Amino acid sequence: MCGIVGYVGSKDAQEIIIDCLKRLEYRGYDSAGIAMISDGSISLKKSVGEISVLESIMGNMEGNLGIAHTRWATHGKPTEKNAHPFLDCVGKIAIVHNGILTNYMDLREQLVKEGHEFASETDSEVFAHLIEKSAGDSLMSEVLAALSKVEGSYAIAVIKNDNEEIIVARNESPLVIGIGHRENFVASDVTALLKYTNEFVHLQDKEVARITANSVEIFDLAGNSIQRESKRISWSVEDAERSGYPHFMLKEIFEQPQAIHESLLGRLEGQEDELPFFYSRVGSVKIVGCGTSYHAGLVGKYIIEELSKVPTTCQISSEYRYSPITESKPLVVCITQSGETADTLAAAREARKRGCKTIAITNVLGSAITREVDTVIYTRAGPEIGVAATKTFVTQLIALYLLALRVAGGRNAITSEHRREIISSMRNLPRLAQNVLNDAERIHTLAKKYKDAHSMFFIGRHINYPTSLEGALKTKEISYIHGEGYPAGELKHGPLALLSCDTPVIAICVRDHTYEKMLGNVREVAARDAPVLAVGIEGDIDLDKFAEDVFLVPEVEPLFSPIPIIIALQLFSYYLALERGCPIDKPRNIAKTVTVE
Ligand code: G6P
Repeated sequence: MCGIVGYVGSKDAQEIIIDCLKRLEYRGYDSAGIAMISDGSISLKKSVGEISVLESIMGNMEGNLGIAHTRWATHGKPTEKNAHPFLDCVGKIAIVHNGILTNYMDLREQLVKEGHEFASETDSEVFAHLIEKSAGDSLMSEVLAALSKVEGSYAIAVIKNDNEEIIVARNESPLVIGIGHRENFVASDVTALLKYTNEFVHLQDKEVARITANSVEIFDLAGNSIQRESKRISWSVEDAERSGYPHFMLKEIFEQPQAIHESLLGRLEGQEDELPFFYSRVGSVKIVGCGTSYHAGLVGKYIIEELSKVPTTCQISSEYRYSPITESKPLVVCITQSGETADTLAAAREARKRGCKTIAITNVLGSAITREVDTVIYTRAGPEIGVAATKTFVTQLIALYLLALRVAGGRNAITSEHRREIISSMRNLPRLAQNVLNDAERIHTLAKKYKDAHSMFFIGRHINYPTSLEGALKTKEISYIHGEGYPAGELKHGPLALLSCDTPVIAICVRDHTYEKMLGNVREVAARDAPVLAVGIEGDIDLDKFAEDVFLVPEVEPLFSPIPIIIALQLFSYYLALERGCPIDKPRNIAKTVTVE
């Protein structure tokens, strides 16, 4: 999604801003632009396509203060004129905006009647003209006046030709302020600024800030001052860089043993008490999330029901608000790695409105979801830059195992012996993950064989049905091969019609109570001449008899099998994409953080 960057200090702002903007590339964008103040006037450059295009046309823009933007088109095509920043009619004010203004048509119509001239088709440009129209005694008062007119979501940064300040504001769209020494920064997320600072102030909804080189002042929309402590984030700049890996996705796949280890640290053996006790008394659980986080939730349903016997359902966040209230106040678990996904934030608000207790599982300290829920379980995956979620998915599962243990413990649903076994299996997970990674080259070889497929099916049963959905999602988002996850038992109710020798089927065959049925499905598929790549468990000598190819992950309890299996499938989709020459970290048309509903 769109990215915002701003800098005010004494250094060359252009260099810093472009460096930070590049660190937001992973969010997805189709045009970019920058506005700088120098000698009392604003200079502006914009271009369609990658930031490198902007660099090639912008030349040397002098100044120590500027804002920039990467745009992901929503209102209006990805053209140069629709790229941010936008100026007012006289070129004294420049703004960048993320989000969607729902009443922009009316505002625009009114502004046009008053003589304002618009240069773009976007909703965002109304901000520049509303601020111009306000003509107050300070840029802050003008921005506040403009904000009182708009409806919808926004993160904005505003500069004026004769001012040495950036005014920023947010409502339902992420924005952080980075604190430096005699310099300050603005960005859509912390990873853009880690090279320059570890200290951040998180702006909250309906707040405005005035940022100069030496100060950050926060206000509410009525202009009342708000005190806010800054927070230190432990992530390092190396965490958000490729460190020799060809792609962030591969780096992040290989970081999973460490991410699992970190996410478990200090949380086993009854130390998972960051969860208030009352959660263990819930009658039912509802999990909500989008994309990969939704898939983690689907796995979570099996984990929670198996360990705690508490009935659990999982729903896509954007559907939750439309569903009737059927359970009496379930515990609502909102999963979102970024903590900023608009649909999941809306679901969290809806859950509270329905009187439910809420937990967030997120990877980002201080993100918006943390303010919408009663309790947070942080995954400790470190920054994830690749658009395709990998280590955040696996650590979300870890959080769900921990939550399930806590709920089970509170209800005496498992014996202490069973609990000990579970904990011992969890301690083993980093090693298990590493063993799969050690076999990456074998997966690469398999990917070379299947790279020309147009369509693939991923099938599994029980806890590995959602693993199949996640494997299919990874494949379609980065390799552009159509991948469809399916419950293996459903194949005969339709999809078998699509199978042929050109349609590989990736079958997850774990030796649990579904194993025999899975073998039946593999035979059923092989009989239609579809090549089967079976993903099974070490020691399995039967898969070879029916499947064209077999990849075995180390011996694992069925309850934990989604972890090694998804790591294998992540690698498979990564190598498929690599062999097909796809832009792995920045797949077309999709964004890492989706801040619109
Ligand atoms: C986008 C990303 C997905 C992600 C989903 C939910 O669609 O491309 O990778 O799973 O958003 O994101 P969240 O931050 O809420 O987990």
